Amino acid sequence: MAATPLLQVENLTIADPATGQALVHHVGFALAPGRTLGIVGESGSGKSLTCKAILGILPGNLAIRSGRVRFDGHDVTRYGHADWLPLRATRIAAVFQDPGSYLNPSLSVGRQIAQVLRHRAGVAEDAVHDRACALFAQVGLRDPAAVYQRHPHELSGGMLQRIVIAIAVAADPVLLIADEATTALDVTVQAEVLDLLAELRAARGLAQIFVSHDLAVVAQVADEVIVMREGAIVEAGPTREVLTQPVHPYTRLLIRDHREYGLDRFTEAA
Ligand SMILES: Nc1ncnc2c1ncn2[C@@H]1O[C@H](COP(=O)(O)OP(=O)(O)OP(=O)(O)O)[C@@H](O)[C@H]1O
Ligand SMILES: [Mg+2]
Repeated sequence: MAATPLLQVENLTIADPATGQALVHHVGFALAPGRTLGIVGESGSGKSLTCKAILGILPGNLAIRSGRVRFDGHDVTRYGHADWLPLRATRIAAVFQDPGSYLNPSLSVGRQIAQVLRHRAGVAEDAVHDRACALFAQVGLRDPAAVYQRHPHELSGGMLQRIVIAIAVAADPVLLIADEATTALDVTVQAEVLDLLAELRAARGLAQIFVSHDLAVVAQVADEVIVMREGAIVEAGPTREVLTQPVHPYTRLLIRDHREYGLDRFTEAA
């Protein structure tokens, strides 16, 4: 029997009430605990809006026109600010493309993770520093005690993304949404961060939604993939099936375009 979904998105339509235009159309999928769902699609296909609707952070000018997002069985589309407080950054965490913009430039990264540990994870004051350093070590940062003292501008993009991931998992969430989290990183660092996400999943049973415009990247991490185009899902299924037996012409096009970047490895292994 299939595990009860941790997250269920049902018939989600996101629109701009000012223009009446729907930007995401009837999107639906389910995610079981500990599984990784990949969302792939070209720029503007609705990947980020879908993630933002799940996180309850849609831009103010947009609204959910129909459908539901159930997290742990609760319909979070009805949640107000106070309902979200115990959930966001605690049970559901998110990592985006530009780690620098999510960190406070005037505070050391150690103080920033310490705030999350104190206020979200309930870690006692005298244990905060050790816990922060343990998290920094877990995300592969060498010399965590020295990193703790650094300000964001003193660290590389890859280090900042590791720090943002450490902060995201500090309160031991059950769902991590990574929206283009590796896109800005160079290929080697991207591969390291992908490994890190896989490790976190294995070690913590963390479910993940991994969003990328790059099918080859999604194929490395996702158990299942949905392909979006113009705000709608055009293809969905287990990663291997989507890669080896794509049904929609757009998916075929994505696969063809990516062959030269090494997608062959995944399809040939199938
Ligand atoms: N605040 C907004 N108001 C109006 N339209 C918006 C708003 N935010 C996004 N859109 C539009 O909604 C569509 C989907 O945007 P979204 O950001 O979800 O795309 P995406 O798939 O994440 O693209 P990318 O790969 O570039 O990140 C796009 O056409 C975009 O222009
Ligand atoms: Mg996006």
